Order: sequence, then structure tokens, then C-alpha cells
Amino acid sequence: MIHLEADFYAGAEKAEHFPNTQFPEIAFSGRSNVGKSSLLNSIVNRKKLAYTSSTPGKTQMINFFLVDKRWMFADLPGFGYAAISKNKREEWVKMIFNYFEIRDQLKMVCCLVDSRHDPQKHDMALIEWLENNNKKFIVILTKCDKISKDKIKSRKEQLDYLLSNCKNVVEVLPYSSVFGIGRDQLQAIIKKQIND
Ligand code: GTP
Ligand code: MG
Repeated sequence: MIHLEADFYAGAEKAEHFPNTQFPEIAFSGRSNVGKSSLLNSIVNRKKLAYTSSTPGKTQMINFFLVDKRWMFADLPGFGYAAISKNKREEWVKMIFNYFEIRDQLKMVCCLVDSRHDPQKHDMALIEWLENNNKKFIVILTKCDKISKDKIKSRKEQLDYLLSNCKNVVEVLPYSSVFGIGRDQLQAIIKKQIND
């Protein structure tokens, strides 16, 4: 595992507040409570850099983190967070897709999918949008410590099959933020995408 230095850089509730930086950027996206903030903390090996919570909807803006003074990680709010108004939910979705569209320095989107369940409507909508808009992405199967090895294998096969026609997918990677499963591979993939 490589040690990465990471610090909070900026938070943005709208596009005007996205930081005006040119560092290559990696974004973390997926349904509310899927484990985006936990994954971000696990790759930089910090417990509380990005705030996590057992209640969904913890991340309510795009949080930017400067990593090793040369990359940026963006922690996005979750899709489908039920406890806010429909308007606010739609605003978040708009902001997230607007971010994907305008952020030229974005090198790859990490799409987090809960390994315990079949991919849901929001998961597939995100993946389809990225594929159709030619954005590079990786699918990360989160919370793998909660299922058996056989189940991890069959979930990965299911996603590999669903994505077999996608040109923009880099990998389908089982992950656990608790045990560090997949962390070294993810670090290596991020490094490669950033340097490409
Ligand atoms: P929002 O910001 O609300 O969209 O959520 P998020 O996607 O950032 O999820 P977060 O990282 O806050 O994690 C949600 C819950 O899942 C927390 O209780 C975490 O402890 C738990 N969790 C996240 N990753 C893992 C994992 O790899 N294994 C296990 N067992 N629990 C996890
Ligand atoms: Mg979060």
C-alpha cells in the first residue's frame, strides 16, 4: 500500500464553487450510504478525512480533497437519499451530472455499487450515463466483508456480464473499506489513469 497525503480542499454546493484547479481528478459516486466516504478514507488511510455515517445523506455537497499535492479526489453526494425534498434531490442529481460534464480534469469516476444487492436503478442510470458520455469509470463493489467469497465472485461475474459491451469501464473491483480488500489494486488503477 502506498501512503497518500490528503487534505480537505473545498466544498461546493453549485458549479460556481468548484475549485479552479488543474490537478487530475478522480470522483466517487453512487447511491446514498453505499460507502463512498469510507472508501475515500480507506485509500488515503485516514479515518475521518471524509465524514461517514450510518444514516444516509451525510455528504451534502461535493467535497474536494487534495492528494499528495498533485491529484484531487471528489466525494459526491449520494443518489436517492430519501429524507430530503424531491426538489433538493433533483438539484443534487443535476449538480452531479453537471460536474461530470464540465470537469475537464476528471480522469475517472469510481461508481460504487453495494456488493450485497443486485445493481439498482440509480446504479445502472449512472453507469449508462457515463458510458454514453464517454467518461471512463470503474465499478467498485462495496462492503465485500459482509458477503461470502462465492457471493463476491458471482456478483463480480454479474457486473462483468452486464458491462461486457461498455467501452469506458476500466474494471469491476470487489472492495472492503473495513479490511482493505481491493485497496492496493484501486490505488494502482487510479495512479495509472491519472498518468495516462
Ligand atoms: P452518503 O454520504 O450518505 O451518500 O454515504 P456514503 O456513500 O458516503 O457512505 P459512508 O461511507 O458514509 O458509509 C455508510 C455506512 O456504511 C457507514 O455506516 C459505514 O461504516 C458503512 N460502510 C462503508 N463501507 C463499508 C465496508 O467496506 N464494510 C462495511 N462492513 N461497512 C461499510
Ligand atoms: Mg458520504
